[in-house]
Amino acid sequence: MKKIYLPALFLILVLTNQIYRVNAQQKSIAQKVDSVLRLMTLEEKIGQLNQYNDDNEATGPVTLDNDKISQIRNGQVGSLLNTKGTDRVRSFQKVAMESHLKIPLIFGQDVIHGYKTTFPIPLAEACSWDLDAITLSARISATEASASGINWTFAPMVDIARDPRWGRVMEGAGEDPYLGSKIAFARVKGFQGNKLGDTNSVMACAKHFAAYGAAIGGRDYNSVDMSDRLLWEVYLPPFKATVDAGVATFMNSFNDINGVPSTANSYLQRDILKGKWGFKGFVVSDWGSIGEMINHGNVKDGYEAAWSAITAGCDMDMESRNYKNNLVQLVKDKKVPITLIDDAVKRILQKKFEMGLFDDPYKFCNAEREQIELNDPEHAKAARLIASKSIVLLKNDPLPGGAGVGLLPLSKNIKTIAFIGPLVKALKQNKGFWDVEIPGLDSNFIVSQWEGIKNKVGTGTKLLYAKGCGIEGDNKDGFAEAIEIAKQADVIILSIGERRDMSGEAKSRSNINIPGVQEELLKVLLATGKPVVVLINAGRPLVFNYTADNAPAIVYTWWLGSEAGNAIADVLFGDYNPSGKLAITFPLSVGQIPIYYSHFNTGRPAYSDDNHNYNSSYNDLSIFPKYDFGYGLSYTTFEYSNLQLSNKKMKANGQIEVSLNVTNTGKFDGEEIVQLYIRDKVGSICRPVNELKDFQKIKINAGETKIIKFNIDKEKLSFYNQKLQWVAEPGEFELNIGASSKDIRLKDNFELVK
Ligand code: BGC
Repeated sequence: MKKIYLPALFLILVLTNQIYRVNAQQKSIAQKVDSVLRLMTLEEKIGQLNQYNDDNEATGPVTLDNDKISQIRNGQVGSLLNTKGTDRVRSFQKVAMESHLKIPLIFGQDVIHGYKTTFPIPLAEACSWDLDAITLSARISATEASASGINWTFAPMVDIARDPRWGRVMEGAGEDPYLGSKIAFARVKGFQGNKLGDTNSVMACAKHFAAYGAAIGGRDYNSVDMSDRLLWEVYLPPFKATVDAGVATFMNSFNDINGVPSTANSYLQRDILKGKWGFKGFVVSDWGSIGEMINHGNVKDGYEAAWSAITAGCDMDMESRNYKNNLVQLVKDKKVPITLIDDAVKRILQKKFEMGLFDDPYKFCNAEREQIELNDPEHAKAARLIASKSIVLLKNDPLPGGAGVGLLPLSKNIKTIAFIGPLVKALKQNKGFWDVEIPGLDSNFIVSQWEGIKNKVGTGTKLLYAKGCGIEGDNKDGFAEAIEIAKQADVIILSIGERRDMSGEAKSRSNINIPGVQEELLKVLLATGKPVVVLINAGRPLVFNYTADNAPAIVYTWWLGSEAGNAIADVLFGDYNPSGKLAITFPLSVGQIPIYYSHFNTGRPAYSDDNHNYNSSYNDLSIFPKYDFGYGLSYTTFEYSNLQLSNKKMKANGQIEVSLNVTNTGKFDGEEIVQLYIRDKVGSICRPVNELKDFQKIKINAGETKIIKFNIDKEKLSFYNQKLQWVAEPGEFELNIGASSKDIRLKDNFELVK
């Protein structure tokens, strides 16, 4: 007996001691915060709630302010954004150290998909479904940014987006709340590392709270009108996942929801975030969003705007200056209780302490570390692999006479390749929107697509180049040269798409076709009879039906970052077997938008495009997307078999174990993303036709079979009922397992019993 109990006792003592120490540490930060707060004047408190842009660079409409330095010295600024590099950060921090209470500034930056090393845009990375890779890219971004003076990133953006007209679709993880939540969690963990306070950790910021991605008509900053059910079931889960991951900060959103601007939404910020979810960090406004409430028509002037935002739980004012200009008066007028101001200040000071900035305000200003981290060759290696994983192979038809084998991968011994298109030699384009411009660093470290392929092929391969046309415009003067080199080649690779800044903030578009004459260029190249591989570079799902229907091979590269060229070459020549699957549905036509896989069935569902007999269809357009959520090809094939459920009936507190076999039936080793969908057949609220509830990305060698196991529990069957209670209702469920939301390979039913 003793043998069993002694170690247990020891463990309890160790744990108790640890808990005690953690509490003591937390308590001491709270005490330190209180002791600083006691020394602060009202003006200094409000200063902590004030964030300014560094005049160096702007990511919104700028307010020039000539006396920023003296305001910092007077303790009227709590944070700066867009300040980069240890020298510049140090110079501002030095001024803060001259202020009365020497409260350090925090330095924020949009480190969205990399700092110096640029990773794929977030939507591309989401298509990897590879949570470890996603965490790693955020980790490396944090390591570089924190070495360059930054201690707070305005990422991850966790807005669900189902409208590719919206330019910011590129910045999130796509359309699905389950996948989106997993990725949101992974990104926060990556940015924040082991703990805040580590020199290589930055505070993450979950944005934009909330429902920014549902802007009406896909127009940026537009209003959102949405039911509570949709908000809770689809748009809030990724935000909740960031809280579960310990996210330090939140940013509210520009849009109004049902007539209330998010900045002034106390239901979101006080009731849900700081109340129900117990979030202990602070909330920053979006750029100028406090002032923009006047345009929304929700408040009369800056005085009302400041009142409205602080009352609703927005702690820090990014760039609108309405806190600075009005909060002192609001407190004096007894409109805003000092306890509200104190709560906001405490939340901000708490984070400054947690990051260790009070101990060492120059903690993130080590020029030597900056040099090392920004030049770590391991970062480029990781960027290359993550970029390869983000690529989605959309089409790979066999060539006539090709014995059923796809055109890709290409052989490294092809005699002549014609590499054509406006993006072949581009450098910076590959970085996509939200790359970070670092003063003193040019774009030399970006591997162009040309460079990548040149590095890959042997000396025996002749590589020919023609631009063919521009991204936009109708000039076809370059077609002749392109046709000329195409005729000399064995294979044509055509790189076309958007400009990198056609998707991003304020980049909404009503026409999402491949711009200019690029598809016409494809047409003339196909007419040569030579095989064409098309690379599509974009920040959003584009519409490209001509290409989709006529090109034998299509590789959706998105924007892959600094290692784009190498990653594309790895995939084209088979050194990496593509494994990405779409995290967002690709429409056939802009007229179908919004289109997403987890829609309701309706009372008059349409099952084909041939029948419009009083059913839910378009008379002039298919109801089916071009490419479904979860779709993506590999150079190998996978066969699913032997689905087994441990039980066909499950009690609310029980579980069903699901197991199946996946066999790699092709010639290449590869990775498959096995997707588990559930349909609740009858619900007190209509349920979607299919909902992703789990997935696994697994490596399976050619010829090998792996057993995949999933667990189904009550959580996977739950939804928000009419009273917004999270419930699983007894009844029949359909289990769908497949290689995409449409390509369901195995099916079964089970029942949740009382
Ligand atoms: C964007 C935010 C961004 C902020 C600071 C705003 O315009 O909506 O996502 O973090 O600018 O650059």
